Amino acid sequence: MYFGNAWYPEHWPEERWPEDVRLMRDLGMNVCRIAEFAWSTMEPIEGHYRLDWLERAVDLLHRNGIAVVLGTPTAAPPAWLTHRYPETLTILPNGRPMQHGNRCHGSPNSPVFVKYSRLIVEQMARRFGKDERVIGWQIDNEYGHADYSEEARRQFHAFLKERYGSLEALNEAWATAYWSQSYDNWEEIPLPIGPHNPGLMLDFRRFVTHTWRRFQKVQVDTIRAYARPEQWITSNYMGWYEDFDHYLLAEDLDMVSWDWYIGTGHHDYLTTGALHDLTRGLKRRNFWVMETQPGSVNWASVNNVLYRGEARVMAFHAVAHGADALLYWQWRAAPGGQEQLHGCLIGADGKPRPFYEEAKEIGADFAKVSDVLRNTEVRNEVAILHSYDARWAVNFQRHHRDFDPVNYLYQWYRPLASRQIGADVLRPEAELAGYRVVIAPALMVLSEEVVQNLVTYVARGGLLVLTPRCGQRDIHNRLYPYLQPGPLREIAGVEVEEYYALDEEVPVKVALGDVLEGQGRIWAERLRPLSDRTEILGHYGVSNGWLDGRPALTWHPHESGGGVLYVGAWLEETLQKALTDWLVSRAHLQTSYHDVPEGVEVAKRVAPDNSRTLYFVINHTRRSHTLPMRTPLRPPLTDLISGVRFDESIHLAPYAVHLFEVR
Ligand code: GLA
Repeated sequence: MYFGNAWYPEHWPEERWPEDVRLMRDLGMNVCRIAEFAWSTMEPIEGHYRLDWLERAVDLLHRNGIAVVLGTPTAAPPAWLTHRYPETLTILPNGRPMQHGNRCHGSPNSPVFVKYSRLIVEQMARRFGKDERVIGWQIDNEYGHADYSEEARRQFHAFLKERYGSLEALNEAWATAYWSQSYDNWEEIPLPIGPHNPGLMLDFRRFVTHTWRRFQKVQVDTIRAYARPEQWITSNYMGWYEDFDHYLLAEDLDMVSWDWYIGTGHHDYLTTGALHDLTRGLKRRNFWVMETQPGSVNWASVNNVLYRGEARVMAFHAVAHGADALLYWQWRAAPGGQEQLHGCLIGADGKPRPFYEEAKEIGADFAKVSDVLRNTEVRNEVAILHSYDARWAVNFQRHHRDFDPVNYLYQWYRPLASRQIGADVLRPEAELAGYRVVIAPALMVLSEEVVQNLVTYVARGGLLVLTPRCGQRDIHNRLYPYLQPGPLREIAGVEVEEYYALDEEVPVKVALGDVLEGQGRIWAERLRPLSDRTEILGHYGVSNGWLDGRPALTWHPHESGGGVLYVGAWLEETLQKALTDWLVSRAHLQTSYHDVPEGVEVAKRVAPDNSRTLYFVINHTRRSHTLPMRTPLRPPLTDLISGVRFDESIHLAPYAVHLFEVR
């Protein structure tokens, strides 16, 4: 387990550094990320590199038992670069260049910017690639924005040529006869500013993905050319951020990390768990929380501080979901610059701020459990499919302003999480063997590969859940020439006769063991069974006339023992819970613990050989709770964090975290 911070030694006189590092050590920190954004300090004049200061910082950290992660500085190009080569600046959709002095204004489409990025990264890699004190690299910082320059447009054309081969194929794919959009010269194709042809918009997102992947790859290859193999390479992503397809960029990294900020308010573990699961799913292995807030941020509408104790439960929540490291951003606020008010560990006076105390507790806790967590992993029986193509397509045409694909994913995730059933969030192309249930929330775009994957999954006995908006489009964002769920109609045993964006709730009656009445909202689909074997598990009540009495929920059993559940409406919470119960009993899903008080999470990490399981019991509330002890937490058990032994029940103080090992 790594515990650390982001430190910017270049902001401070060198005489101060030893005191900072002493304070880090005092917190139990064993990792520090540096150099990110320090381009103008490393290359103050074009071609004149100054890395000695960085070497001294690395050395100081190392001598104090702190491993170093080096960030490449390309998110903050120096003024000499943007001034001398203005073509390196990203062009905004309104045609104006981004301004120097914020961040992320360098364009990944600018060959000049890429060249200078490569040169500075090469200098760093030459100097630190063989360095034992440096354990890994972070490329750039939170990238993803699109450039609307003429250069980007030319590259978009080249990308499309490569993808389609001919304009006939492109015109066909985008259905360009519509509104005279047909192109007979590649140069005619615009970059989409605002709403545009849905096929073009989807390909533009793929182009942005391609652009950043190439930019990332230049840095990966440059570092790899010099780095010892043990040094890993990552980049810090941003959870649900959707400007590029993270699955594709993650392929070129050794490890994925992400920056976890709450902003205004407090964390809700029933949804933040999905963010960690998403990140873990990018490479299907453990990950790092490269940045998280030490109390507060500076960019939200209200930058409140987390409650005392909240950061500690957040830290263990992340670990329970597969994080192997947690770093606070940042160590100490720079005296100037845009982020003076951001939370940090050290005050303007150079002394610990109140949050430091809590960080110290977390550091001590991590040190206690680090060995026992080594090489353990998260394993789940449910997969929730998540695709950037589908999310983009839905977001381009929401049709109902509240049809937010991420919220809809939470709709499935939350009731599972509150029953202590973990889920992996995976791309739909992922290997699905071994999952008892696979849920495809609003998987609107389906490639042939994905169709095949899902058909195979059901044929092998899997239980697949399809939902509103599944299977409407092909990979060009064209409507399939048949009704939803398109190529999955046959295995679903049902098709969607019509879809309705709802301005008012519709009654839905389901028979899932018990008969239950509730409401659908936002979206409802009128279903038509296609097979005698399709069972109707729910109907709409009287509403808009079109839905009255029509099927809302169907189950199509397969001989394999699996089947497809089609859920036609966005259901309110009680019905969604009933549906979750149905899935649990039909697929025999295991919960990690039964009858857990609301707000308490029981999550686990397992040793690869199954010899032991680590149970995290986390009270995410500010109230006390009691958890009766039963299988798998049979008494007596000793909490590995506090050393307290429990013989009958587990008393959970507000924001308590316990870790138990069961062999
Ligand atoms: C992002 C950046 C950091 C910092 C924080 C502030 O995550 O990566 O450099 O700006 O936000 O919350």
